[in-house]
Amino acid sequence: MKQQQYETMIAQIKALLEGEHDMIANMANLSAILYHSLPDINWAGFYLYKKDELILGPFQGKVACMHIPLGKGVCGTCAKTLTLQLIDDVHSFPGHIACDAASRSEIVLPIIKENTLLGVLDIDAPMLKRFDITDAHYLSNVVKLLVQSL
Ligand code: SME
Repeated sequence: MKQQQYETMIAQIKALLEGEHDMIANMANLSAILYHSLPDINWAGFYLYKKDELILGPFQGKVACMHIPLGKGVCGTCAKTLTLQLIDDVHSFPGHIACDAASRSEIVLPIIKENTLLGVLDIDAPMLKRFDITDAHYLSNVVKLLVQSL
């Protein structure tokens, strides 16, 4: 069921990204498709890696913090370690940055092209343990499609 929803979304994303190479345009449409396709989430979007920090990029959801230092919070940890962060309970994550008080769990993936960090994809949910290995798998594919489009 969940797999089927992701397969449908991935097909839409492939069509959406086809022939478009602008990073901001593709991130903007991706955040819209993720936000409106994934059930039970309250924020989906991108932070861009610029001048040794993360700066808010295209997103859907409530207003969010604009600057995140490397190593701070879930996004900053993802950017510093270049590893996917799957957080069942954000309140137990040291240094978690609460942009929307409703957020309870979170998944963040690094966006890397040719060994260069471009930013992170961040998705938040208003319930504990919203994300699992299936989400990690398919969202990694979403990031791959984005990187290939650039
Ligand atoms: N909670 C994130 C900050 C970004 S917002 O959730 C949109 C973090 O700890 O990195």
